Amino acid sequence: MFYLPNTLFRLRDLVNGPKRLSIECEATTFGTTMGLYRHFLRPLLFYFDAEKVHERTLSAATAAGTSSTGRALLRRLCFHVTDHRLATDVAGIHFPNPVGLAAGFDKSGRAIRALSEIGFGFVEIGSISAQPSVGNPKPRLFRLPEDEAIVVNYGVPNDGAAVVARRVHAAPTPVPLGVNLVETNTGEPTDPAAVVGEFVAAARPFCGRADYLTLNLNCPNTTAGVSPFDDSSRLQELLQQFSRIDGLPPIFLKFTAHQDAKRADDLLLAIDPYVSVAGFIFNLPPGKAYDLRTPESVVDPMPGTLCGAPARTMMDDTISFWYGRMDRTKYAIIGSGGITCAEHAYHKILLGASLIQLYTGLVFHGPGLVRRIHRGLLQLLDRDGFTHLSQAIGAGHEED
Ligand SMILES: Cc1cc2nc3c(=O)[nH]c(=O)nc-3n(C[C@H](O)[C@H](O)[C@H](O)COP(=O)(O)O)c2cc1C
Repeated sequence: MFYLPNTLFRLRDLVNGPKRLSIECEATTFGTTMGLYRHFLRPLLFYFDAEKVHERTLSAATAAGTSSTGRALLRRLCFHVTDHRLATDVAGIHFPNPVGLAAGFDKSGRAIRALSEIGFGFVEIGSISAQPSVGNPKPRLFRLPEDEAIVVNYGVPNDGAAVVARRVHAAPTPVPLGVNLVETNTGEPTDPAAVVGEFVAAARPFCGRADYLTLNLNCPNTTAGVSPFDDSSRLQELLQQFSRIDGLPPIFLKFTAHQDAKRADDLLLAIDPYVSVAGFIFNLPPGKAYDLRTPESVVDPMPGTLCGAPARTMMDDTISFWYGRMDRTKYAIIGSGGITCAEHAYHKILLGASLIQLYTGLVFHGPGLVRRIHRGLLQLLDRDGFTHLSQAIGAGHEED
C-alpha cells in the first residue's frame, strides 16, 4: 500500500466516507458550462424520449467529428485540461488522463472522433457483437431524475463487428480506443458452446485498431447477469482461443459486480496463465434493488438495469474487494458506477481503480463534467500531497 503519512487520516475519512459522511461535490454550477447544461439544456432534453435524445446527440456528435472545424470547436468548447500529473500508463497503453467514456454511449463507434475531442482520456465503444442486433423492444431507456439514474434495457443493439470495425479503422482518435465485445443478442438464449466462437469472431476485425478489448462476459439485459463464463473451463477456453489471435491487444474482463471470495479466487486462478488479461471492469447487476427516491410505482414497470448514482457505493465496495484480492502487478481496475464529480472519481482511484469510466453522469451533468473532473482531480491530488495520479491509486485501500 502507498500513502503519505500526513495524508493518511484524510484518505481514510474519504475512503470510509460514503457510509458515514456525504461527499460534498455539488458546487454551485449556475453560470458555468455545466450550469447552462443543467438549468437550460437538460430540462429541454428531458422533455423528450430518452432514446430519441440519445440518438440525436450521437448523430450531432458524429457530424461534428467528421470535420476538422467541428473537432476544433469541440476542443475549444470543452476547454481541455492537459496535465502530466493525470497522464498514466496502464497495460502498456498511454492514457492522457484517467477519465474514460464507458461502453454503451457509442455502441457502434459512430462518434468516436467527436467523443475523443471532449476531454476523455479514452473512449470505449460497444458492446459490439459478431452479428448485428436490433436489441430489445422499445421503450428500453428510462430516466430517474430524482435519483440521477437511468434504467437501461437496450439488449446491446449494434451494427455488428464487421461494420463497426470498418468504421473505426477509418477514424483515427487522439486517445486510446477500447472496444467492448459481447455475444449477439438474438432474443433467444445462446448456446453456451457457441459463445466462445462468437467472441473470437467479434474480436478479430478490431485487432490492429483497438488499444484494448473489453469482454462483456454477461450483459445484465441479455443473460440476466448469469454468465456462461462463470464456468471457469469455458472462460479458459475463451482466453485460450484469444491467445491465438494475431495482434491481440490487452483484454479487460467485464463481469457482474460481486464480492464473493470463492468466485473471485476461482476466476483469478482460471485466468492466471493468460498474459493478455490486463484487468477488470464491473457490470451493474440486473435490476433496480437500491434505495431510491423515485416512487416504486414509477420504477417497477421499467424493465432493465439501473445505472448511475444509487449504485455508486456498491461499485466502490466492489473495487475495494477486487483490489484486495487481485495481483496488482498483473491486473488493473477500470472503476465505474455513479461518478458525477471529481470526488467520486478520486474515491474510486484511492480504492484501487487505475482508470475510471462514466456514462450516466454525462446525461445529468453534460459534457462539461469531464473537464470538471480533471480539474477537481488535480486539486485533490494537491490537497493530499500527491505529485502524480499513480501515487493515489489504491492509497486508501485497507488490507483486511
Ligand atoms: C444507457 C446505457 C447503456 C449501456 N450499454 C452498455 C453496453 O452496451 N455494454 C456495456 O458493457 N455496458 C453498458 N452500459 C454500462 C456502462 O458501461 C457502465 O458500466 C455503467 O453504466 C456504470 O457507469 P455509470 O454509473 O457512470 O453509468 C450502459 C449503461 C447505460 C447507462
